[in-house]
Amino acid sequence: MQKQKWVVGNWKMNGRVDFTQTLLDQLKTLAIPENVQIGVAPPLPYLAQSAHILHDSRIHTGAQDVSQFEKEGAFTGETNAGMLRDIGADFALVGHSERRQYFGETGEILVKKIQNALHAGLCPIYCIGENLQQRENKLEKQVISEQLGILDQVQADKVIIAYEPVWAIGTGKVATEEQIIDMHQHIYQHLLSKQINTDNITVLYGGSVNAENASVILNLPNVDGALVGGASLKIESFVHIIKAIEN
Ligand code: PGA
Repeated sequence: MQKQKWVVGNWKMNGRVDFTQTLLDQLKTLAIPENVQIGVAPPLPYLAQSAHILHDSRIHTGAQDVSQFEKEGAFTGETNAGMLRDIGADFALVGHSERRQYFGETGEILVKKIQNALHAGLCPIYCIGENLQQRENKLEKQVISEQLGILDQVQADKVIIAYEPVWAIGTGKVATEEQIIDMHQHIYQHLLSKQINTDNITVLYGGSVNAENASVILNLPNVDGALVGGASLKIESFVHIIKAIEN
């Protein structure tokens, strides 16, 4: 079976009710090739609306985060995986670098988030990536291996991985083809070394993917799709990125 390619839009903290309706109504009209999977991760207040709009389409709806707490209870402000599933989410981003940076998310917390997502039937998209200093000190592979290490504690072949070098996120500074190829190969090798069946593994690239660079990035070896921030907020650029996948 042909491997699926994914394009996932991460809206971050952007959007309103009208915006959600307009963008998703347009996205729904797109003819999606069989080998392509599309996802959108709107802010939590618009997730149920998004799932409702997309329920009769092939487009997946996801959350940008999921609670480390599995059971309902006294956790003010939190949303557990079961609730996300209940309102129609089918995937959740976990460990996005902005969550690691601004909310102090550590490997220990992220394991719980991935486990909770899997228990509830949500596909976790686990985000990993080195920062600029780590890359300048040639520590990027070590950092990525460490971040991948937490997958030893979960059913790793059920997790989508998104490699997003932190220095390329929202900066317009995209990694070079060589850097992407090199790191995606490293990720595949790491998983193979753990006896994980990589036939079912999906490794996305993220970081300033846009309409101009998408066709090159999406067709690199071991790149199974893209996690798109800024360029997913405009229908033209998001559709352009989707269409950049060669059939
Ligand atoms: P960007 O964000 O495409 O705006 O760089 C990517 C991401 O953070 O997932």
